[in-house]
Amino acid sequence: MSFDAFAEFRMTGHNVLITGGAQNIGAGIARTLSGAGANVMIADLNGDKAAETAAAIAKETGNDCRGMACDVTDKAAIDAVVAATAKAFGGISTLVNNVGWGGRQDDPKAIPEEEFLNSYKLNTISAYRMSMACLPWLEKAKNGSITNSGSFSSAVPAYDILPYATAKAALNQMMVSLAHMLNKKVRVNSVLIGTVITEGYGSAGITPEMQERMTHPDNLIGHPGRPQDIANAMLWLCSPAAGWVSGQTINVHGGGSVVRLFGQ
Ligand SMILES: NC(=O)c1ccc[n+]([C@@H]2O[C@H](COP(=O)([O-])OP(=O)(O)OC[C@H]3O[C@@H](n4cnc5c(N)ncnc54)[C@H](O)[C@@H]3O)[C@@H](O)[C@H]2O)c1
Repeated sequence: MSFDAFAEFRMTGHNVLITGGAQNIGAGIARTLSGAGANVMIADLNGDKAAETAAAIAKETGNDCRGMACDVTDKAAIDAVVAATAKAFGGISTLVNNVGWGGRQDDPKAIPEEEFLNSYKLNTISAYRMSMACLPWLEKAKNGSITNSGSFSSAVPAYDILPYATAKAALNQMMVSLAHMLNKKVRVNSVLIGTVITEGYGSAGITPEMQERMTHPDNLIGHPGRPQDIANAMLWLCSPAAGWVSGQTINVHGGGSVVRLFGQ
């Protein structure tokens, strides 16, 4: 048997910088890209946890995986992690803008302006800044790409999380436009993620009852996603297998939008 159908999904020779990869979805993506052969740098607000997760991944995959502290809302920290990644691996071919989150607001009449501004800084501007800081390296790389952790909530009516959903919607637009501006040099795509239950849901004030409501009636498969479900799509989009895919937002949400949009 000579044809290897997985050859173009391998990430050997790729140097990945992923933000927010210390836990949950980001850690799943980092592990999968590392397992596919890439060198991976995890940049996370929690530097200790990033290093711990990276060490566990490196042990498991046998590939170079490192962690470093970085606040993606701080331009100097972005520049430092980009420089450290390029130095460690000799370049950056693959950026995954995974950081993002927002709180819950019950009353649409009482959302402080700061919530919108902070959400925009964390979910949107950070991805722009990180993309621009990596750009000189991505442009030089073979199969240079930017892939974002977007949200399904950006594309459908989103309850209780208006500033977050609004900022993620802006991220979609920004990245589709960037794909066109960077055409022929760097591919840019986003995964619109559905419900993957993490501890972040609790800290954002989303109760178990709400999680139940968000999860089961709202997707066609009938259960929440796993970080691995998101990582599988990310692997495709980052790898040479998606070499003809750019400017796309790909839904990975258990078919959720169909049910939610039609109110079933
Ligand atoms: N979990 C879901 O159901 C879901 C659904 C849709 C979209 N998403 C998106 O997927 C991505 C990952 O979600 P998750 O649930 O795994 O998140 P999470 O909250 O579990 O993890 C986020 C990581 O980002 C890090 N982080 C937070 N602020 C940071 C900052 N300023 N600088 C650097 N690192 C920072 C945290 O330390 C943490 O390790 C996010 O963009 C989120 O919006 C998640």
